[in-house]
Amino acid sequence: MIVLGIETSCDETAAGIVRRDADGKASILANVVRAQIEDHAAYGGVVPEIAARAHVAVLDRVVAEALARAGLTVHDLDAVAATSGPGLIGGLLVGAMTGKAIAFAASKPFVAVNHLEGHALTARLTDGVAFPYLLLLVSGGHTQILLVRGVGDYERWGTTIDDALGEAFDKTAKLLGLGHPGGPAVEKAATGGNPSRFALPRPLMDRPGLDFSFAGLKTAVRLAAERAAPLSETDVADLCASFQATVATIVATRARAALERFRAETGIAAPTLVVAGGVAANTAIRTALDAVAEKIGGRLVAPPLALCGDNGVMIAWAGAEHRALGHADALAAPVRARWPLDANAAPKVGHGRLGTKV
Ligand code: KG4
Ligand code: ZN
Repeated sequence: MIVLGIETSCDETAAGIVRRDADGKASILANVVRAQIEDHAAYGGVVPEIAARAHVAVLDRVVAEALARAGLTVHDLDAVAATSGPGLIGGLLVGAMTGKAIAFAASKPFVAVNHLEGHALTARLTDGVAFPYLLLLVSGGHTQILLVRGVGDYERWGTTIDDALGEAFDKTAKLLGLGHPGGPAVEKAATGGNPSRFALPRPLMDRPGLDFSFAGLKTAVRLAAERAAPLSETDVADLCASFQATVATIVATRARAALERFRAETGIAAPTLVVAGGVAANTAIRTALDAVAEKIGGRLVAPPLALCGDNGVMIAWAGAEHRALGHADALAAPVRARWPLDANAAPKVGHGRLGTKV
């Protein structure tokens, strides 16, 4: 089965093509990603209207390039998948409409893919991970711990109550003048920095459960930066290293508790922890998670760097997993700015900002 996947939910215009064999084996036939970094550079963040217009300007060429790289035409496809949420609504409309148009013109089934599921299932494409597994999803918009029972079958065990982890990296970078996107910039600046120079808080760590909070941490970085001003290059490196070490500890502590719960609930002695989303590219975080998984007798699966950030391959793969189960969506399928993986989990973002205890 050959599936084209289109991704336009944020600031990457991407198209990927994957082949899924009947036994579940995967191969990547094309992976084209056009980032919009320069389009948003002047604004210090992603501007939704600019993002949507940039997707319109390049998406047909990105799709054509993916087909050319794979040596295919739309008639060779078995399905077309497009991110239909969650994300910025303008971009979602561009990608979903394009996917539907191709599916309609070539008489192929269409799959409306949840962007988060694209991240969640990537480990099955790269490593053939079997269900169930534990997922730590860390991106610019989400920070969640999920039990992955199967395709379309998720149970949220923990989430951030305020900022997402990627957002905390981005805000830290912005206040230190490191540019956008902040994650890679903070990671680079942290190299050689002293991770124990600044003692930063670990919000929620004294409370049970698997939720996260990062808003207070960002404030603490700002206060530490103001106290140390004017900042030398060493100060910036030490702040970045301290921030990164703190979030790595927070994430690893929660992951360990989640792995223990996973073991108790599933009876699987050697659990698999999958880390996914843009922040999964961070080496300090990967290293901390790897140590936790090993300590508990399990293993960490992290996608290769090229598949951590947003891409069309993960959307194509999620589409292929759904097609393998016989799923397809109507061309009238809506796009959704908000689309949680676990529809039964109550929204929590905002609780932290309002000071509500959870
Ligand atoms: O998954 P993604 O590409 O887009 C969303 O769906 O949000 O994640 C983007 C986020 C950004 O916040 C970016 O700063 C962060 O992932 N990120 C990183 C690294 N690379 C990207 N954070 C920490 N370390 C990195 N190396
Ligand atoms: Zn993403």
